[in-house]
Amino acid sequence: MMLKRFSWHQRIAHFVGSLSGMMLLITGLPIMFPNQLGWVFGLFGGSGVTMFLHRVFAIILIFSFAYFGVYFILERIVRGRGDSNIKNFGFSASFISEVVAGAVRDILWTLGLRKERPKFGKYDWIMVGDIYLLPLLALVEIVTGTIMWFPRSFPFITSNPGLFFAVRAIHAGVAFFLLLFVLAHAGILHLTPGNFPINMSIFTGLISKKKALHEHPNWVNLAQEVPKEDKKTKTSPLCYVFGAITVINLIALAYVPFAMQSEWLAGLRVRSDGIATFGLSLGVVTLIVYVIASIVAFLRGLRT
Ligand code: HEM
Ligand code: HEM
Repeated sequence: MMLKRFSWHQRIAHFVGSLSGMMLLITGLPIMFPNQLGWVFGLFGGSGVTMFLHRVFAIILIFSFAYFGVYFILERIVRGRGDSNIKNFGFSASFISEVVAGAVRDILWTLGLRKERPKFGKYDWIMVGDIYLLPLLALVEIVTGTIMWFPRSFPFITSNPGLFFAVRAIHAGVAFFLLLFVLAHAGILHLTPGNFPINMSIFTGLISKKKALHEHPNWVNLAQEVPKEDKKTKTSPLCYVFGAITVINLIALAYVPFAMQSEWLAGLRVRSDGIATFGLSLGVVTLIVYVIASIVAFLRGLRT
């Protein structure tokens, strides 16, 4: 038996948002790290093409942010929160303390300091964190990106041009954090025991009832049942290889900020360094693989 986990709107929102986010990283990071990622310009046929693509995907991100943002707010007002455990738009003190308590219990359980696994609703504390943080970071990128795109339209930049570089440092810093987010997020959805070798719920819209009973016990009674067989996934040895690559990549990227320095008007730059070049290049290669894999998985998901 399967349960309906995501609606069509949620699946499309994740697809469009993640695809544009990943493409913005692929086309933006080589500007930030030209010595390490210069090869990306060559791959796309020059920096003119990557900068053009950055603007195209920026418009797609702005559109999806506005469209799905408005949809989410209207849905909440008209239909309420449905089967979601995020209450009152998630800003009430009781909800925030519930999430913090869930996080503490989960960490204690993970460390073996608590016997019973904490019971979560539809979204556990990490998912709630993602749902809060990602739109906020997207908004920061949209605002800072718009200022950099049309600097003359902003009087605070024309009267103090130095602020342009402060805006650019924020845009670049958040972008680097987003690179770590995507790798960690996709890593969790591949590598954690209940998900290995891959969690496909955002593409198929479904989750097996057995898995939901373990991971989201407080949600199961609210969820809609879908009479479908729970397919057994085969584990390929390749999954271990991809897992190891993701972990090595995150460690190499965690090193990058230590090699980072300001080059004044050139912005944040990294010393030409083997580990940084390896981590950044592997990160961008992984993003390119995820872009292709997301398109294939989304098209496959259309059949379910
Ligand atoms: C820029 C890239 C991405 C962004 C901004 C993003 C964002 C999100 C957010 C906010 C959620 C809901 C909260 C959560 O479950 O953590 C989510 C869920 C999910 N994402 Fe992503 N995502 C991205 C890329 C990916 C990639 C590359 C994969 C494939 C490995 C993926 C697979 C999933 C899955 C399976 C879920 C549903 C988990 C569940 O609740 O069952 N995402 N994503
Ligand atoms: C997930 C969202 C985004 C990411 C990860 C991202 C990433 C980046 C990065 C890493 C850079 C290079 C910064 C440097 O100079 O060191 C950059 C530059 C830039 N970004 Fe973004 N960006 C995003 C969204 C946007 C949006 C929404 C816009 C426009 C509204 C935008 C417009 C620009 C502009 C104008 C530049 C300057 C370089 C150029 O002229 O091509 N970005 N971006």
